Formats: sequence, C-alpha cells, structure tokens
Amino acid sequence: MKVKIGKRIKDYRTVWWDKEIVNMIDQTKLPGKFEIYKAENYRETADAIKNMVVRGAPAIGATAAFGMAQAALEFTGSDFEKLKLLMKNAEKIITETRPTAYDLFHAVNFVKKNIKNFDSVKEAKEKALIASQEYADKSAENCRKIGKSGEKLIKDNFNILTHCNAGALACVDYGTAIAPIRFAHYNKKKIHVFVDETRPRLQGAKLTAWELAQERIPHSIIADNAAGYFMQNGEIDIVIVGADRIAGNGDVANKIGTYEKAVLAKENGIPFYVAAPLTTFDMNCKSGKDIVIEERDMNEVLYIDKIRISPKNSKARNPGFDVTPARYIKGIITERGILKAGEVRGI
Ligand code: MRU
Repeated sequence: MKVKIGKRIKDYRTVWWDKEIVNMIDQTKLPGKFEIYKAENYRETADAIKNMVVRGAPAIGATAAFGMAQAALEFTGSDFEKLKLLMKNAEKIITETRPTAYDLFHAVNFVKKNIKNFDSVKEAKEKALIASQEYADKSAENCRKIGKSGEKLIKDNFNILTHCNAGALACVDYGTAIAPIRFAHYNKKKIHVFVDETRPRLQGAKLTAWELAQERIPHSIIADNAAGYFMQNGEIDIVIVGADRIAGNGDVANKIGTYEKAVLAKENGIPFYVAAPLTTFDMNCKSGKDIVIEERDMNEVLYIDKIRISPKNSKARNPGFDVTPARYIKGIITERGILKAGEVRGI
C-alpha cells in the first residue's frame, strides 16, 4: 500500500519480519499518527493482535505465523520434543487472542504443519521462519488476485458501499473488499466509495478513509445508520465487504453491522459481495451458527476515544461480529474467482 510521509510516498506492508522482530503499522494510532510497532517476541506479537495494533483477518493470520516463527527461534536447546512443547504454548497464547478470525488458526496450523516432519531443532527453526514468510507473501498475492477478479464487478461511475476496514491494513497488502476498488481506481474508472464509520471502534472512519485518502480514491464517510438512506435514494450500486470466517454453507461472519447492510441491500435490489481469501473459509463450521462470535469490552460502546458518551451507570453489549446468511450474498470474491454460496463446500 502507498503511504505518504511528508513529501515522500513509500510502499508499506501492514506486517513484516525484520531480524526476528515483527513490525506492524500501529493501527491504534491511525489516522493521527503513522507509527511502526515492533514486537520482539511471540508474547508481544500475541499482545499486538489482542490489543488490535494489528487487526483484520488476513493481517492477524500473517502476524500469528510470524509469532510462531519467533517462538521457534526463541528456543535455545537441542531437544526437539522441548521445542514442540514451547511451540504448543505459543500456539495457545496466540490463538487465544481473537476467536472469530479464521485466518489466525489457519496460519498457526500452516507453520506447525511445516515443521512437523523434522527432528532437528535447527531445521525446524529454519523451516518455521521460511513458512511464516511464505504465508505472508502468499496472503498478499491472494489479495492481489482478489483485487483483479473483483475489479470486473465495478463499472465506471459506480458508488460502492463498504463496511469496517477490509483494506490493505486488514491484510498483508492490497486488502480484500478494498482490493477491487483499488484496481478499479488504478484502471482509471471513475468511482466513489461510501465508507461506513463502523462503531464502536470506527475502523471505517479511521482506517478505510485513511487508506483511500492515501491513494486519493474519492470517498465519503457515512454514519452507520445512513446506508439505508443512500440505498433507497439509488446512490449505491454495489456493496463489498470482507469476512472473518466463512462457513461451509456460505454464511459469512464479518464486522458487526454487516448483516443489516446485506438485508438492506437485498431489500433495495443492490448486489452484495463478500471478498475473502480461502484462508478465511472454515469447513469445520457447517453454518454460521457454529462460528464463535467475539464479545468485546463494553467500554468500547460506552466511550469514544476515552470520552464517556453515556450515563455513568449504563451498561452496554458489544458483539464484535455478526453472521450474514448466504442467501443475502450474491458472490464471494476469492483468489480463485467469484464463488456462489453453494460452491463453497467444493473449494
Ligand atoms: O475487529 P476487526 O477490526 O479485526 O474486524 C475486521 C473485519 O471485520 C474485517 O472486515 C475482516 O477481518 C475482513 S479483513 C480483510
């Protein structure tokens, strides 16, 4: 992704490995400050996922893969069984950070699978690092392919609605829902993006808007409850969102508020698309009912940026995600092309 710092424009990935340190764009600081967060060991990397320094399913996945590599490299002994124990502990700490994003589990399993067939500590360490880098590179490439295939859905003069941040910041690069938008813009299509602010953490207003502004993609931030108004007035041509976990029947868990946008889109005859790599598909979940939904701290609802906006004794509920049933989804844009819900089982 292109980032403008002062007068210079530089290409950044959201997360990258450098000399045993996992570097991440600190998403808790954007859009005010562009800072790099450096996690020096797997515990710090897990904390960064938990505290949402890095967030968004594919980005969480790549960060988790690097965390597993850090755990392997941290081991100083020569007993392979002891290395396995340490890796098991790292896996527990890393996978307990956020329960809904399937990429996290996929990535941890990928690194584990890659070191399983070695019995020398040295080889296993080398392979863990290679596997994590391979995971991150493949993740970026998959998002690029999502961008290329999804771009065809976006016609000249389209107004696109998106929810939360499913951009490069939520991935290693390019984004999922934002990748087709990025490519449509590169191909000189005249487009405009409606960005849901996405309460309570405001990933739309803070992160998606920041990313679009970096690349000068025309956009307007709208209040979460304004999408219906714009749909009803014929101002939205297509909805594209990301996903945190996709069940075998094509039901999609994504940021809270996605479901209501999908229902509104159907009511207004607007095509609703989900963009996600295959690492987000969890065939162990038969339907959306099997997906664990993260319940987050109620203070995220009661406060905005440390300012209490509600009465002192009020409580709140704060589910991080909801499930959009497959019947509301026109297609799922993947690195292998656009799938219908019924085709998900066969991937
Ligand atoms: O809680 P977050 O910010 O991690 O939630 C992110 C989302 O819901 C994204 O839409 C999803 O992870 C897809 S990211 C390409």
